Amino acid sequence: MKKRTRVAHPPEVAVPPGNRPLIAPIYQSVKFTFDDVEETRKLWRGGRDGYWYSRLTNPTLRQLELTLADLQDRDACLLTASGVSAIAMPLLTLPKAGDHVVYFAEMYQPTRSLIRRVLGRFGVTSTMLSIEDLDGLGRLFESQPTRLFVFESPTNPVLKVADLERITALAQRHGVLTLLDNTLAGLHNHGGYAIDVFVHSLTKYASGHGDAMGGAILARRELIESMRADAGYLGRRSTRTRHS
Ligand SMILES: Cc1ncc(COP(=O)(O)O)c(C=O)c1O
Repeated sequence: MKKRTRVAHPPEVAVPPGNRPLIAPIYQSVKFTFDDVEETRKLWRGGRDGYWYSRLTNPTLRQLELTLADLQDRDACLLTASGVSAIAMPLLTLPKAGDHVVYFAEMYQPTRSLIRRVLGRFGVTSTMLSIEDLDGLGRLFESQPTRLFVFESPTNPVLKVADLERITALAQRHGVLTLLDNTLAGLHNHGGYAIDVFVHSLTKYASGHGDAMGGAILARRELIESMRADAGYLGRRSTRTRHS
């Protein structure tokens, strides 16, 4: 092998059996490989565990997904590149044209714009209410079939706290999916409420050091799997793995 080729194919240095790093190493490899093509095909068919391409997933992302799902008391997690993309993923994958989405005015501005401007272009209708108007929310659910209710607690930037007990009861009674941006509360809060989908910007409570960007979606497995299927076309998804 020529020396300049060797630079791209350095000698493999395996950690010997029974010996391991105390802290999990961060995988920066984009691609993962197998000894033969049949094993790659098996992975694509969901017939074996493994990794293929880091936009889809890698051991570092997988470890974070398992940790965050556990902290938020949900079955599964899908990581995204930012908090905004964690919000965009369920908004773009759960409702379809003709569905109705309800949200509170007291919420992160890009979320409101995404619902009103972007989903509106694709034929999703929406209604905005005040976080104080839970009687109005009940009347709206009563009068108009609603696919998704989107809210935050505490809210950014005005720090209002939503009545989660009452909101989840109303949503369950009317068969409405709930999406809570739980960024400001943290992953250790609100897991006991009947929230269908949590989203987090990982730059805030989860990280807090201003040195890493990321987002997380946490929900029961079937909802995460339905989002994974579309998320591949939106820039990030995790491949199906046996331990997912
Ligand atoms: C409540 C809330 N949700 C979502 C976001 C967006 O997160 P990111 O900046 O990671 O895209 C923010 C960012 O300020 C936020 O405060």
